[in-house]
Amino acid sequence: ALVSSTPLLIEARQRGYGIVAFNVHTLEMLQAVVEAAEESRSPLILQTTVGTVKHLGIEYIVGAAQTAARRVSVPIALHLDHCQDFELILQCMRAGYTSVMIDQSMHPFERNVEMTRKVVEVARALNVNVEAELGKVGGVEDDIRVEDDKATLADPEECRRFVELTGVPTLAPAIGTAHGIYKGEPDIDFRRIEDIAGKVEVPLVLHGGSGIPEAQIKRCVSLGMAKINVATELKNAFSLSLQQSFAANPDDLDPRSYMSAAKQTVKRLAQEKMRLSGCAGKA
Ligand code: 13P
Ligand code: ZN
Ligand code: NA
Repeated sequence: ALVSSTPLLIEARQRGYGIVAFNVHTLEMLQAVVEAAEESRSPLILQTTVGTVKHLGIEYIVGAAQTAARRVSVPIALHLDHCQDFELILQCMRAGYTSVMIDQSMHPFERNVEMTRKVVEVARALNVNVEAELGKVGGVEDDIRVEDDKATLADPEECRRFVELTGVPTLAPAIGTAHGIYKGEPDIDFRRIEDIAGKVEVPLVLHGGSGIPEAQIKRCVSLGMAKINVATELKNAFSLSLQQSFAANPDDLDPRSYMSAAKQTVKRLAQEKMRLSGCAGKA
């Protein structure tokens, strides 16, 4: 069965590794990361954005994720990424999601606290993990766009108060990463991660994982980032593989062949990310 990500992430932070949370959009992408996790003995967080929930439907997603959890021996959690809609969060929790993100990072601190607290209360009763964001992660993630000059970093003292006031079990503080692929190198404030990790005990979540160089990911993990979100790199790899298949074999119109190639590409990339974040071999 799908498990809550809370204990997985607590263990990850304690033991100093990161669990990769992959955004998936199709059945093949989901299967690819599940196979990658099983083969590399890695705990896994499957996640879907609100856009993907609308695209595939809650029941199809939960059904596929539950099937995956039954078929493999590594623990799998299913997470709703960047959701601002309380009703949709409730629906997903009732349908079988084992983790949700309530994203109120665009609103003032007090409102963020109030909404997060509401979600935490319901989630506790259902044994579901909750993630909230402080500061604003830049870049584009589905329907959420934050211009560079609007992105703000999380304040360590606010992080401490936020966790205390909400009881949220996992926190995503903005520390300089951005959604999508970076133009240059990401400008990560490592000192800030350290300060935040010194003030809150809960596992921290790194958004914008695509495009971060290996050494920087490792440093983030060593400072307390226990969940590493990867969306764009996986999506691009999947789509580029399809482009290549069609370019190389324009007459091959069998989804089972071009989809298999794309699935293998995603699987290899996922295994690489798991190795990098340190969760390979931890399940
Ligand atoms: P990337 O698209 O940069 O990998 O960010 C993923 C993310 O933070 C999902 O919430
Ligand atoms: Zn994100
Ligand atoms: Na990124």
